[in-house]
Amino acid sequence: MENIIMYPAEVSKDTLDWKDLQGQNITALRKNVLVLGSGGREHALAWKLAQSNGAMVYVAPGNAGTAQVGVNVPVKVNDFEGIKRLCLEKSIHLVVVGPEQPLVDGIVDFFHADEVLCHIPIIGPDRMGAMLEGSKAFAKSFMQRYGIPTAKCLTVTQENLQEGLDFLASLKAPYVLKADGLAAGKGVLILDSLAEAQTELGNMLHGKFGAASEKVVIEEFLKGIEVSVFVLTDGEHYLLLPEAKDYKRIGDGDHGLNTGGMGAVSPVPFCTPDFLQKVEQRIVQPTLHGLKSENIDYKGFIFLGLMNCEGNPYVIEYNVRMGDPETEAVMTRIEGDFVEILHACALGRLDRVHYAKSDKTAVTVMMVSGGYPEAYQKGKLMTGMDLLTDSVAFHAGTAFNEAGEVVTAGGRVIAVTALADSIAEARTKAYSEVEKIRFDGEYHRRDIGMDLMRNAECGMRNEK
Ligand code: AMP
Ligand code: GLY
Repeated sequence: MENIIMYPAEVSKDTLDWKDLQGQNITALRKNVLVLGSGGREHALAWKLAQSNGAMVYVAPGNAGTAQVGVNVPVKVNDFEGIKRLCLEKSIHLVVVGPEQPLVDGIVDFFHADEVLCHIPIIGPDRMGAMLEGSKAFAKSFMQRYGIPTAKCLTVTQENLQEGLDFLASLKAPYVLKADGLAAGKGVLILDSLAEAQTELGNMLHGKFGAASEKVVIEEFLKGIEVSVFVLTDGEHYLLLPEAKDYKRIGDGDHGLNTGGMGAVSPVPFCTPDFLQKVEQRIVQPTLHGLKSENIDYKGFIFLGLMNCEGNPYVIEYNVRMGDPETEAVMTRIEGDFVEILHACALGRLDRVHYAKSDKTAVTVMMVSGGYPEAYQKGKLMTGMDLLTDSVAFHAGTAFNEAGEVVTAGGRVIAVTALADSIAEARTKAYSEVEKIRFDGEYHRRDIGMDLMRNAECGMRNEK
């Protein structure tokens, strides 16, 4: 039989032991974990989970990289019925949701409402909690209710357009306009002139980003350095996972178009213990208090997109998932059994887990298809991954062709992460490994982490 453990497994919240239906302790046996998604983040999650004692990792739908650490199953993340069948067929004991869309669409509520699935621990907030990412207007009013530092803002619809135009006029340039809903990472405009901002406000309300921009949040521009801080919470307790810095622009020196992320560094030198203490006191704790006060059942990751403004953290955005490519750096620095950590999280027992962060520095370089983030080609043969000796290559947009070879299948293709004692060493390692991987039209930034080496206090500033 495919599975050792009978379904559904019982878990004891007191001991965190996994038990089968006869009450036998199954800690040492196989634990079937399902990761939903298909990017570099999901490869990194699956890679970390697969290192746990007894873990058998399934990834739906996965990519050519996740196939190395687990079993890919061709089920899409929005096919909840398909995911249910998969959970039953494979006796899944833990589900980890990678991307935001299924969370915003209510996959956790779907599990909770199902008489069988409700027994399977799932990592991610319910639909209400996912609104922290799914609606910027909701997130901003949540922050205002709980005194969480964030940029001054106004939410505008067609009904109060004039108020929006006046609010814009009261701000200093540059002007920040955000589509309320999910817009595939493209819903934020930062504009230098007031006239342009006022025109774009009208365009957004008239469907520039479809239904996502029927509501627009206008924000004061915050000047500072960005950092991604990751929290894992069971609703009561939390762990601060390693933080990371993302490099969003396509070009060196932070020039050119915005992308999904071109690289990451963890830890971030300007995230001193003092800064992180402010993050915990001013942001993490009030956020968890707010979630509890509003009866939001949140068991999962909270990704705080922060601006460090002269040593003080402000929330730019909440995400209800891990970051990509930050996860490709962060996972290499988590010590401890990640299946046990997430399992404890789903049971509300994060206070019981053993968790530590490695002191080493991770540098991740994203290799992308030429032309990305605009039009690019797919299906290019990839070579050299077998030559890597000193890094982990997390596949983002890869697939197998008919001959079973690995080919490109997305804009962001593969993220190479190296771990070392300093940013300089990790950069040297990562870049020498990047040279080994080849595909037609390959491009990557050459300056990941350089800003943080030049001046640990300075980081990359958004010099607007
Ligand atoms: P978001 O989708 O909210 O992460 O916004 C995309 C990017 O726009 C962020 O990563 C920041 O670089 C920038 N951004 C968003 N809001 C602000 C703000 N209030 N001030 C300065 N930059 C911002
Ligand atoms: N790296 C930014 C994000 O995942 O949204």
